Amino acid sequence: MASTAQDFLSHPRMQQRHIRIGESSFPYLFSSNCLDAIAETLHTLDADRFVVVTDDHVFGLHGQALLRALGTGTPVTILRHEPGEAMKTLPSLAEHIEHALGDGATRRSVVVSFGGGVPGNLAGLMASLLFRGVRLVHIPTTTVSAMDSVLSLKQAINSRVGKNHVGSYYTPTAVLTDVELFGTLSPRELRSGLCEMAKNCLAIKPEIISELQEILTTGNLAAPESLLWLLDASISAKGQVTKNDTYERKDGLVLEYGHTVGHAIELLDHRQRDADGLSHGESIALGMLIAARISCARGWLTEADVRIHDELVASLGVTTSIPEGVTADRIIDTIRDDNKRGYLPLPDDAAAFVLLEQLGVPARSGELPLVSVGFQEVQDALDAFDAAGREILSLAPADSVR
Ligand SMILES: NC(=O)c1ccc[n+]([C@@H]2O[C@H](COP(=O)([O-])OP(=O)(O)OC[C@H]3O[C@@H](n4cnc5c(N)ncnc54)[C@H](O)[C@@H]3O)[C@@H](O)[C@H]2O)c1
Repeated sequence: MASTAQDFLSHPRMQQRHIRIGESSFPYLFSSNCLDAIAETLHTLDADRFVVVTDDHVFGLHGQALLRALGTGTPVTILRHEPGEAMKTLPSLAEHIEHALGDGATRRSVVVSFGGGVPGNLAGLMASLLFRGVRLVHIPTTTVSAMDSVLSLKQAINSRVGKNHVGSYYTPTAVLTDVELFGTLSPRELRSGLCEMAKNCLAIKPEIISELQEILTTGNLAAPESLLWLLDASISAKGQVTKNDTYERKDGLVLEYGHTVGHAIELLDHRQRDADGLSHGESIALGMLIAARISCARGWLTEADVRIHDELVASLGVTTSIPEGVTADRIIDTIRDDNKRGYLPLPDDAAAFVLLEQLGVPARSGELPLVSVGFQEVQDALDAFDAAGREILSLAPADSVR
């Protein structure tokens, strides 16, 4: 049975947003302290089994609470793996699928992801493959998954050659979020998970930047009302560019803001420090600071706009220097292979970037929110950023500095 949108799903104790991505749509229900409401909503799907994909860490923290809420009426298969990116592999996927089938999963079963983006991606791909498609429900437990990965149809795992090389597009039946589950994230994880959200504000929805900045600097970030506001804002910002772009290859490309240099920094830092390297969100935040300086040098963004970038990133608690060993030469060499190659005709000494003409307004080549940027411009922006690093750090609120 193919997964179909269950737009009728709702719960009186949860806020509801309708997510539309191209032709697909699904409900996103969210609230605080609502595992019971999540379980009640899951039971309305009349599944013959819930196949829960999670990791050992999340299960240890919140697994029993979920099982208690689900009760004993419907059989539950728990598929657990070690936490972390290393589990997004074909062998883990195959093991999970065989385990679910061995337990008696059928076309009427519902695959439930319970965790961050890693269990989410594994569960998404698994749901799309089991019987050529069974229903998928996400219960995200990280800010990255709740505010970013579940708002995309992309479901992918890693190959031995590279990240997210094996995947599909698949629509969940619903996303059900209890922001109380984020309470066990460390302050650093909580903040760095918000980098992509901050990127979406700068590139898509600048009218909410001041409210975001206020929550990051003065409010209690972990308070349910802050998290619910952040969730709602993420849904509306990302939805604005994906609603007509299922595959994120047109307007959705603006989500790549900060990614050209950001990906290069992430890759180079992980090569030298493995898992101790900067997180994806932190790398993208640095990438935005470089992109902002390139735009400013072109006369598009103002100095004040660059300062808004700096303040936002500083208040996310992200390090404001590029890791030692990740040199400008290596960054430029790496962006030659950036995954946006092919969208634009480019000279040999340039790469495709998302650049902002104004906050919330990407520069375009034809219909695409991409422009060609010369490597010398990248070098100049890296130099300008290097010179400003210490000053940016001083903008960070005391509790966010590592
Ligand atoms: N599909 C997409 O468009 C998309 C978008 C963004 C990210 N992603 C993918 O998502 C993954 C990153 O997501 P992630 O950062 O959530 O990774 P993750 O699932 O590995 O979670 C990060 C860590 O947080 C822990 N954790 C999860 N929930 C917790 C909680 N409530 N309390 C305490 N610890 C908790 C996990 O055990 C893990 O150690 C990457 O694989 C990335 O490719 C996909």
